[in-house]
Amino acid sequence: MDHSVKPAAALSASSSRRWALATSLCTLACLFLLSASLLLVAAGYRPFQPRAVAAWDRFSRLQKAASAPPARGSPDAAVAPAPGASSPGGLDWGQEDKEDAGPPAPAPAPAEEEGEDDGAGGDDSECDVFEGEWVEEPVGYPLYDAAECPFLSDQVACRRNGRPDSGYEQWRWRPRGCGGRTRLRGAEALELCRDKRLVFVGDSLNRNMWESLACILYAAVPDRSRTRIVDDAGSEYRIFRAMDYNCSVEFFWSPFLVKLETKINRTRALKLDQLPAMLQRTLGADVLVFNTGHWWTHTGKLRAWDHLERNGKMVEMEGEEAFNIALRAWAKWVDHSIDPSRTRVFFRSVSPEHKSVNWCYNQTFPISAGTVAPGFPKSLVTIVERNIKSMRTPVTYLNITHLSELRIDAHPSVYTITREGKPLTTEQQRQPLTYADCSHWCLPGLPDTWNVLLLDSLMRPPSNVHLLG
Ligand SMILES: *[C@@H]1O[C@H](CO)[C@@H](O)[C@H](O)[C@H]1NC(C)=O
Ligand SMILES: *[C@@H]1O[C@H](CO)[C@@H](O)[C@H](O)[C@H]1NC(C)=O
Ligand SMILES: *[C@@H]1O[C@H](CO)[C@@H](O)[C@H](O)[C@H]1NC(C)=O
Ligand SMILES: *[C@@H]1O[C@H](CO)[C@@H](O)[C@H](O)[C@H]1NC(C)=O
Repeated sequence: MDHSVKPAAALSASSSRRWALATSLCTLACLFLLSASLLLVAAGYRPFQPRAVAAWDRFSRLQKAASAPPARGSPDAAVAPAPGASSPGGLDWGQEDKEDAGPPAPAPAPAEEEGEDDGAGGDDSECDVFEGEWVEEPVGYPLYDAAECPFLSDQVACRRNGRPDSGYEQWRWRPRGCGGRTRLRGAEALELCRDKRLVFVGDSLNRNMWESLACILYAAVPDRSRTRIVDDAGSEYRIFRAMDYNCSVEFFWSPFLVKLETKINRTRALKLDQLPAMLQRTLGADVLVFNTGHWWTHTGKLRAWDHLERNGKMVEMEGEEAFNIALRAWAKWVDHSIDPSRTRVFFRSVSPEHKSVNWCYNQTFPISAGTVAPGFPKSLVTIVERNIKSMRTPVTYLNITHLSELRIDAHPSVYTITREGKPLTTEQQRQPLTYADCSHWCLPGLPDTWNVLLLDSLMRPPSNVHLLG
């Protein structure tokens, strides 16, 4: 049965039948994956293998072969997940485990720069792709047209929602001293995705990034009838597939990375040492991109949990300590479950919001430098960076916080939808304090650059976070 991509209108007309199909297909797939992993466990499979970058050499070769000159609200309105959203199973990673305490393995040296010169100096030793500047580049940007991407969600389809300016679509990130490394066309992105499974896991901002990549790829596919998109009603799982390239890009919604469980009496427990069972479904992916952050900072009515749990018992602690325990559980799961010779692991840094001090409303130009939105607690960023450094799996840190901070112009602002999914009325658009979304990002737009940096990084050997920046 085909879930072919159709124009948006047709998409919704046939949606319920498709959801039913998607759900049953998905259930079958889950059962299969579950039994497969049980078999592996039963067979004593321990996926620790010598670190190898061989699989990734292919990317570099490919890059050389294809080196034709490159052409020019708060995240997820923090509503509680529907009861039943959390699966009964869970992966327990709470036990302290001596075996895990080893020092981080040395990471391979960074690859030599091989891109074309950008006129910005090509000495790669100076290159940090996350430092640089935004340059206006109306030719070549955006990487796709919003109208070309039928599954672009209403939340971030700013033009469709009436945003009058389009300059925010036409900026290219130019890293300092990195040659032409951020020039990438859709066709190259597709080649990089060939025979690959890329998986995003995290909150609505990783969904924003997933949507961006799906649009970049979709716009580049020569025969668009040979693509599929499956999207569940709750937006908790999505997959885009380009069949002729055997390329798939998935999104799993998991805003805390650890398990949020809704009990029978509707009490919501955030289990700091358990990972959601669905994470097992990500195993075997070629690329995994994680994020978490904003949901930990929500307070009051927006907070998604009623209490915290550890070792099956209710605990009370500061948010920072809880965050650290959760990240340790996640790190341990990655170190035990991911085979780094098969899977490249990324962690995307915090996506900044432009509220209070530097408000996104009415902004049409990036900020060039200087102090930007303080927003997210520095302590949580430190916890993320420290945990990643101590992992044995090489994790590439997509440190997009700073370059995104400059893009005050790139949020949907009032060109978005309400929590009920309706476009803002003119009346609502006049009340930006209540309705503007200064957390997510318009598409096409900033997340396209996050993906360009992700794909660029796939062409290089993995490195641990401490080698960056
Ligand atoms: C298709 O891609 C998957 C990874 O998603 C890979 O395991 C498989 O070998 C590929 N199939 C072919 C025929 O190359
Ligand atoms: C809900 O159930 C949990 C155990 O499943 C219990 O610990 C908690 O106190 C209950 N909450 C309320 C409000 O009844
Ligand atoms: C935003 O821009 C509109 C149109 O230019 C203007 O009428 C309005 O006063 C501006 N609002 C703020 C808060 O700057
Ligand atoms: C990430 O980027 C920020 C700002 O550019 C920098 O201060 C920080 O050290 C970087 N983090 C890492 C781990 O490289």
